[in-house]
Amino acid sequence: MSAINIRTAIPGPLSAAWEQRRRNAVPSGAGSATPVFIASGEGAVLEDLDGNTYLDFAGGIGCMNVGHRAPAVVEAVQQQMERFTHLCFSVTPYDAYVRLAEELNRRSPGSFAKKTMLVSTGVEAVENAVKIARAYTKRPAVIAFEDAFHGRTLLGMTLTSKVRPYKAGLGPFAPEVYRIPYAYCYRCSEPSRYPECEVRCAGALEDAFRHTVEATSVAAVLVEPVLGEGGFVSPPAAYFQKLRDICSQRGIVLIVDEVQTGYGRTGTFFACEQLGLEPDIVVTAKSIAAGLPLGAVTGRAEIMDAPAPGAIGGTYVGNPLACEAALAVLKIVDEQHLVERASQIGEWIGHRTRAYASAFPLIGEIRGRGAMRAFELVRDRDTREAAKQETEEIIRYCWHRGVIVLPAGTRGNVIRLLLPLVITDEQLDEGFSVLEAALASVGAPVPVAVFDSGNRMRKE
Ligand SMILES: Cc1ncc(COP(=O)(O)O)c(C=O)c1O
Repeated sequence: MSAINIRTAIPGPLSAAWEQRRRNAVPSGAGSATPVFIASGEGAVLEDLDGNTYLDFAGGIGCMNVGHRAPAVVEAVQQQMERFTHLCFSVTPYDAYVRLAEELNRRSPGSFAKKTMLVSTGVEAVENAVKIARAYTKRPAVIAFEDAFHGRTLLGMTLTSKVRPYKAGLGPFAPEVYRIPYAYCYRCSEPSRYPECEVRCAGALEDAFRHTVEATSVAAVLVEPVLGEGGFVSPPAAYFQKLRDICSQRGIVLIVDEVQTGYGRTGTFFACEQLGLEPDIVVTAKSIAAGLPLGAVTGRAEIMDAPAPGAIGGTYVGNPLACEAALAVLKIVDEQHLVERASQIGEWIGHRTRAYASAFPLIGEIRGRGAMRAFELVRDRDTREAAKQETEEIIRYCWHRGVIVLPAGTRGNVIRLLLPLVITDEQLDEGFSVLEAALASVGAPVPVAVFDSGNRMRKE
């Protein structure tokens, strides 16, 4: 049975009417990617107010690994609703917070003693990780990467790389944030390629200590294991090993931002695991609680204990409804083997997209880990000119035909897939048929090319 059912022009009359009211009531800065208002969701399917159904390849930006309205999550939240909805952990604590902290300590990479604090969002997790690293090292500076995304608060947007729309006109920014290039292999200017290049680009960190900020002033290096908003760029494990070694030698706290990669999406519970990477602190959010507002900072116990009591926290952090949802999510991930399912989805996509480079001239690179897959689209495979407008057209085509999909990348030319891991193979097939029709519908003619075994473009 088809999951997609488009019965009206998009947006339908009810969505269009709400869009009008929204324009009057909500600032344009709080924008939405699609013009359809949603009535309900189930698994990987969304239904809008006009009765149109869509496959959700966005998952509320990667929050719905366990799918919409997962019964165990709904039940856990309903049961907690019957007990209490809020207490404030810093006034009267409750056990769900502690149980979740224990689970995250156990599951996070590294065999050392760990502790977890809970927050409400991804950016709050990032900010607290930075505060904790500063308290521990007694140093001020943070090093972040080009093309990184870490959120929209003052420190968050400072740590984020992309200027438009996240930073332009919104300064001044937080001090003591320095930026170095990320290992973006597809756009690397080095003559040699990985593994011949030996990830010399990781040396940018040591270079920064010579040119920009002294190592003894640096509290933390903050890095995504796969760029999220930056376009699913996924450097080799050797890159992260080099960063790890430099941080260890220099007494710098390595913070890994797994807000978008965590909870199985990349085919391991944390992306760090497949990279053999043990961060000092890992931050999570998004799929942690199936969309209920929750984030977590998990790290080495001695680092996490550095701030004084009361220095980190907040009124709503670790909300009990969200904690119960998160505990239910962990159960679902285990019982439904969603980590393994993410690998299967990755393999399924790899198989399905094998011929894309020859079929669709716009394809520059297909990349990612596990179910976290993206296509970078270019107008010309030699110059790698970003196909931003074409990307927007493809995305619009998709949601007009029943697939909700998101752009990414600093150049706006990446299509990223953040589908619920509970999606069925039939739904994947249906969604990819739409995506393929969309890719076929646009694109300037460019020379035919294929990819080599390292997934790098090679001219025929
Ligand atoms: C890698 C990463 N870090 C941090 C954030 C910020 O999370 P939030 O939007 O929950 O504040 C995001 C959000 O997309 C993200 O992808």
